[in-house]
Amino acid sequence: MTRILCFLNFKGGTGKTTTVVNLGMGLAMRGHRVLAIDLDAQGSVASWLGANYEHTTAELLLEGASWFDCITRARTRLDIIAADRRLTEAEQKLIMKQEGPDVLRRRLAGIEEAGYEFILLDCPPSVNLLSECALHFAREVCIPVSMEYLAVVSARLVVIEIIRARRLSPGHPVRLAMVIPTFFDRRYSKSHEIVAMLQQHFPGIVTEPIRASARLSEAPSHHLTIFEYDPTGPGSIDYARLVERVLEHA
Ligand SMILES: Nc1ncnc2c1ncn2[C@@H]1O[C@H](COP(=O)(O)OP(=O)(O)OP(=O)(O)O)[C@@H](O)[C@H]1O
Ligand SMILES: [Mg+2]
Repeated sequence: MTRILCFLNFKGGTGKTTTVVNLGMGLAMRGHRVLAIDLDAQGSVASWLGANYEHTTAELLLEGASWFDCITRARTRLDIIAADRRLTEAEQKLIMKQEGPDVLRRRLAGIEEAGYEFILLDCPPSVNLLSECALHFAREVCIPVSMEYLAVVSARLVVIEIIRARRLSPGHPVRLAMVIPTFFDRRYSKSHEIVAMLQQHFPGIVTEPIRASARLSEAPSHHLTIFEYDPTGPGSIDYARLVERVLEHA
């Protein structure tokens, strides 16, 4: 069965895209077939990976192209469905057509037969139809939380949205699977305080932190994942550890 994970925090810049790209690559390097779907009009997934694409999430949602036609190969075993600015307009059209938050799930009907072991959804930093769509398609919700109090507050809002999605889609088994501390810097007491706060709010599901590292922030401009750009550095070590965590908690 395909595992479908979404990466969501309504606060911006908490490491959602960084986690989708590098976790996706890490899983692909371990031999798993992965599809990363970009649900953010910033389109960072394709630009990070330097992927050339034709069709995007916008056409997928508006039925301009099938899911099969929207898929672009980014790396060995790592495919993507890219997004770009057209997604903003597509979202408006979906709202005008009164499409519900199950629209992504409907457009991706049959994708489980494509043989992906993991589908990773990169969400926008807002409560909108696209993030709702992610919650109505994903089964596992992962919340990257940067070392800021407001990112913790937004993480708790995600929990409320998960509850809402379960109520609107009875039988859809979406659950909070992981809370991932990001931008962790052990030199600062704030990092330790935030992780302690997360462990208190989300017992048992807080992963080992992803450390703040300059290499991780440089990697997108080189269109390389951290495993390609700095294979032995802290970013690779931390994301490889997250890969193991995901594989262990099937
Ligand atoms: N652990 C880290 N250490 C240093 N820089 C990082 C780390 N994680 C992410 N970054 C950098 O921080 C910026 C924000 O990260 P990213 O784009 O992954 O966040 P996001 O949650 O997807 O943002 P948005 O809400 O805008 O979609 C990026 O430039 C990224 O390269
Ligand atoms: Mg992002």
